[in-house]
Order: sequence, then structure tokens, then C-alpha cells
Amino acid sequence: MTEQNRDQIEYWNGEVGQRWAARHAALDAVFKPLTDALFKRAALNPGERVLDIGCGAGKTALRAARTVTESGRVLAADLSAPLLAVARQRAAREPASTAPIEWIEADAQSHDFGQGAFHHALSRFGVMFFDDTEAAFDNIGRALGSGGRLTFLCWRALEENAWVRVPREVVLPLVPGCEPMAPDAPGPFRFADPRAVLPILDAAGYRDISCDPIDRTLTIGHSVDGSAKEAVDAATDIVVDLGPVARLLRDRDADLRESARATVAETLEHHVRDGAVRLGAACWLISATRR
Ligand SMILES: C[S@@+](CC[C@H](N)C(=O)[O-])C[C@H]1O[C@@H](n2cnc3c(N)ncnc32)[C@H](O)[C@@H]1O
Repeated sequence: MTEQNRDQIEYWNGEVGQRWAARHAALDAVFKPLTDALFKRAALNPGERVLDIGCGAGKTALRAARTVTESGRVLAADLSAPLLAVARQRAAREPASTAPIEWIEADAQSHDFGQGAFHHALSRFGVMFFDDTEAAFDNIGRALGSGGRLTFLCWRALEENAWVRVPREVVLPLVPGCEPMAPDAPGPFRFADPRAVLPILDAAGYRDISCDPIDRTLTIGHSVDGSAKEAVDAATDIVVDLGPVARLLRDRDADLRESARATVAETLEHHVRDGAVRLGAACWLISATRR
């Protein structure tokens, strides 16, 4: 690994990576409607070779491997050792009818994936963190070769994502001296304005670029027996431990984190319907073909 993406390497291998690893199953359940949209658009076929960029704990690579079946192949790349460890454990439990998956700790911005080695590159929220987005999509494009397809999900603006906005709004006043994030800095909302990425894809040699809004209601937490408290606790764990609220609380003392958690829980109580906390999410589903 090189100096590039050093902050992200530290971020995803540190406490945040550990938390994502611990909560992977809950997060995959929350994101299911978005993952379904990604796979519908990707329309993978048996026998295809698929590259998963920023594969995290492996949900999308595992699903790709099932879809392309044992005649296909999946390469799943991520910077995060703790997330890849979870992914490998999950893969060991998969049936033999799935494609072999190779998990690699690698920087998708620069790793040599092989020229034209893949029919398809996909990513669920793993492409917004590069130091050099141009270089990264160029590199991914080389791995695809002519006619190869790219499909990924990224977030629209924070304001449109109630599942993040609602808890963040109540935590912000508790956190003194919080710097707003630069819109073009690596981070989840970097492509909220698609003009930040679509010209880059064009310049990197992709054609037939499409960018469609995906709006879904996410079940952030639910309870088996309809108890509102269980649903709120589960939802609070997700929004406080992962994503932008976790960023706000990074390196803050335990008391502040505890009061943030209590405030978020109180807020989420107002969003319980039928034993579940449900809030809206807004993404871009972007796809393109390599020229
Ligand atoms: C928001 S998480 C999404 C993880 C996974 N795709 C999912 O949906 O659960 C972003 C992921 O991208 C990975 N990542 C960030 N920059 C990367 C890079 N340059 N190369 C490879 N992976 C990267 C992180 O380690 C992290 O696992």
C-alpha cells in the first residue's frame, strides 16, 4: 500500500472499521432495498467475472457470487482488514454452487486488477472515498476493458437522507466546534451532486452513463415482538455507531457519546411505526459501460 488514501486506510482499519464489522448483519438488513436496486440494475449473468469495489463485510460480493454461479468469478477489494476478515468468515459458510471469491486488501484507486479481466465492476457505497477519483475510475475501467459495465450506489445529499439527517440534527448542538465537511472531500456525500462524478466517468472512458435517483424507506431498527424500545435501541446503535453521526462523535468523551445516544433514541421514538423505526434514504444509482 502507498501513501495515497492514507486517511481512509486508517479510518477503515481503526475503530470505525471494527464497528462496521460488528454491525455488518444489521447494516445489510437496513440496506437491503438499496442492494436490491443495485443488483437489479447490474443484471449479472452466470459465468461473469465481477469486481466488487470497497466490498466491506462482503454482502454484495457474496450475492454477486451466487448470481454468477460457480462458472463465474468474484474479486472483492477493500482497504479494511477487519471488514475483510468478516467477509472471509461469511464466505466460508456459502454453498458450493457460488462462484469462487478472492478477497484482497487493496486500494482500488491503484491496484492492478488485470487488463480487461472483468465483465462487471460494482460497488455499494464504496467509491466516494478516493484521494484521486479520476485515477480510481480510470484504474477500474482498465480492469473492465471495452464493453465492461460499471454499476454503483452513492448517496444523494445529507438533507435528503432522513435516516442520517434526523439523528445528526439532534447530535450537532451537543458537539462543540464541529467543522462542516468540505463537499468535495472524500466521504459519503461527495457525489451528492452528480456533476462531481459524471464528467469524471466520461473523461475516464465510460459511455452510456446513467444516473437515476433511488428513494427507499429503510427499516433502521425493528423488534420481533413489536416492542418500540427494542426497535429504537437497534436503530440507535446503527445511526450512532456508523456513518456521519459516528464521525461527529469520533474522539469525543464517553459522557458526550452517552448523552448523544440518549438524545437520538428519544428522537427516533417519534419514528416508530408497527414495531420498526423507518426513515427515508436517497441515493444515486449510476451505471456506465467502458468504451
Ligand atoms: C461505506 S463502506 C461500504 C462497504 C460495503 N460496500 C457495504 O456496502 O457494506 C465503504 C468501504 O469502502 C472501502 N474503501 C474506501 N476507500 C477504498 C479504496 N481506495 N479502495 C478499496 N476500498 C476502499 C472502505 O474500507 C469501506 O469498507
